[in-house]
Amino acid sequence: MNVQDKVIVITGGAGGLGSVMGKTLSKEGAKVCLLDIDEERGQKTVEEFASEGLSATFYQIDLTSEEDWQSVAKKILEKHGRIDVLINNAGINIRKPVEEMSFEEWNTMMRVNTGSTFLGTKTVLPVMKEQKGGAIINTSSVCGLIGHKYTPEAYTAAKGAITLFTKAIASRYGSFNIRCNSIHPSTVMTPLVEKMLQDPQRAAERLGEVPLGRLATAEDVAQAVLYLCSEEASFINGISMPIDGGVTCY
Ligand SMILES: NC(=O)c1ccc[n+]([C@@H]2O[C@H](COP(=O)([O-])OP(=O)(O)OC[C@H]3O[C@@H](n4cnc5c(N)ncnc54)[C@H](O)[C@@H]3O)[C@@H](O)[C@H]2O)c1
Repeated sequence: MNVQDKVIVITGGAGGLGSVMGKTLSKEGAKVCLLDIDEERGQKTVEEFASEGLSATFYQIDLTSEEDWQSVAKKILEKHGRIDVLINNAGINIRKPVEEMSFEEWNTMMRVNTGSTFLGTKTVLPVMKEQKGGAIINTSSVCGLIGHKYTPEAYTAAKGAITLFTKAIASRYGSFNIRCNSIHPSTVMTPLVEKMLQDPQRAAERLGEVPLGRLATAEDVAQAVLYLCSEEASFINGISMPIDGGVTCY
């Protein structure tokens, strides 16, 4: 899969999925930029990359701040001169059903999950238009495809918005040679779900829903992302790709 020398920006780059996406892309020759609010974990991630002979640059950012986006994009462009791929990957989950969730918490879910995707996309579109091409990959979830009964409704609503935002961007900006696709992983063991999976009942529920009989790994997700970033996917635009072992089949 050819991503050689592509400048690839990954939000939530210090997290469970983002860091593995970064390693996979760096191994294939991409210039990886990891964006995250967690400076300490970000620096540790970059050190981990180096210990494996890989490289990445870390940029600290609050993804819900338009000012931060502008200043980080400027730094990336000063260093690399272009942005070939943006992976809007960061996300949070406040694990409460509608009846227990405050309006403030609902708004936080929307601001961080969908707001960061909006701001990232808004920031890179002019850059990609100018360079006559690019790709955007949005991390949604199986919950962006179905009303998943074990998941907070606010998470489902935020991820569902990302699914259609993706298609809208794909249809408007395809004529600028900008592709936009979303990925929809089922449960992957990362810090986001670690605590939830410590409850044996919930772990069994999550495992029981997967026809392939195992949870997803971060590598499963990273391989799909590698494809969507690559030259080989140059005609793939506006898809919602499940990486879920069949969870959304029934
Ligand atoms: N882990 C799963 O089971 C699973 C399944 C489907 C989809 N997803 C989605 O995958 C994406 C990555 O999740 P993960 O499992 O790697 O989670 P994670 O918690 O390991 O990583 C998320 C990262 O986002 C960063 N972040 C959060 N808010 C931020 C902000 N305002 N500014 C900058 N950075 C911020 C965090 O610091 C963290 O490093 C999320 O969008 C999540 O919803 C995860």
